[in-house]
Amino acid sequence: MTTDAATAVAHPNIALIKYWGKRDEEWMIPAVDSLSLTLDVFPTTTTVRLAPAGQPDRVLLDGRPAEGEIEKRVLVFLDMLRARTGRREAAVVDTRNTVPTGAGLASSASGFAALAAAGAAAFGLDAGPAALSRLARRGSVSAARSIFGGWAICHAGSGSGAEADLGSFAEPIAAPDFDPALVIVVLNAGPKAVSSRAGMRRTTETSPLYRAWADAGRADLAEMRTALARADLDQVGEIAERNALGMHATMLAARPAVRYLSAATLTVLDAVLALRAAGTSAYATMDAGPNVKILCSRTDAALVADEMRAAAPGCRVLTAHRGPGVRLEAVR
Ligand code: DP6
Repeated sequence: MTTDAATAVAHPNIALIKYWGKRDEEWMIPAVDSLSLTLDVFPTTTTVRLAPAGQPDRVLLDGRPAEGEIEKRVLVFLDMLRARTGRREAAVVDTRNTVPTGAGLASSASGFAALAAAGAAAFGLDAGPAALSRLARRGSVSAARSIFGGWAICHAGSGSGAEADLGSFAEPIAAPDFDPALVIVVLNAGPKAVSSRAGMRRTTETSPLYRAWADAGRADLAEMRTALARADLDQVGEIAERNALGMHATMLAARPAVRYLSAATLTVLDAVLALRAAGTSAYATMDAGPNVKILCSRTDAALVADEMRAAAPGCRVLTAHRGPGVRLEAVR
């Protein structure tokens, strides 16, 4: 009987240049590069404990057995870890999220980043940051970025299969002078009707707008890097907002449409426009859910939060900042 076990903590990240669409589903290769900020809120803590070979793997999410798609994805990930390490032990995965799961609040990013780090440690896989990022990507592409704290870029790489795997990973980008706030407006914390995996598949297969958005994203990324280096909040915000709205446009044009934005989302977007018209630098981005994340300066964060509470009564609002990369902790 072995007692190998490891615990890791990871934080979600929010992409300002979005990833949407895969080039290779089996290897989890994104079709586009992306750029994100890892946050200091909503950590996920995951413990992986090895068990004797032959026992079934067990997956616990917030203390209860995981089900459906979530359980399946973790089991596939464990098989991949065993194949990589040549080990045969079973595993018990115990994950605790502080963010609502599957609500477009990046639970899969923090979840698979923590699982990659804890799983690699428990199975004895010696992985540096880039290798760990590639490993996390196999669970969820956005998780590749949560390996790192602060700003990170995830490369789509080139080719397919094992060759593409080598070139698709995240790495940190230095933007030491840029330390904004991200005001998170939680409008609906329930799980989404269409998973991002299914939504992006339908978009790439059927949306006539997808190619145009992916092409425009290359210029967005180049301009974003310059804007970040200059710590230019308005420029960063404008690029992030147009990239996110473009991504949602590709989904709305899918057949049938994939729509994550709700009436409340549009109300919040109006409030963001009103703030800008009144001279406050605030810019919105949305992921696979109705919730809105608003980029602004640290000094304006309280004002932005108040305006959003007034615009969408009953919503939960919290303010996040630049957060840390994944780390191992004493086994829990
Ligand atoms: C809209 O990384 O959750 O949040 O790779 O299929 O697990 P899978 O999808 P996931 O998709 C995230 C999409 C997004 C944009 C982003 O985070 O870049």
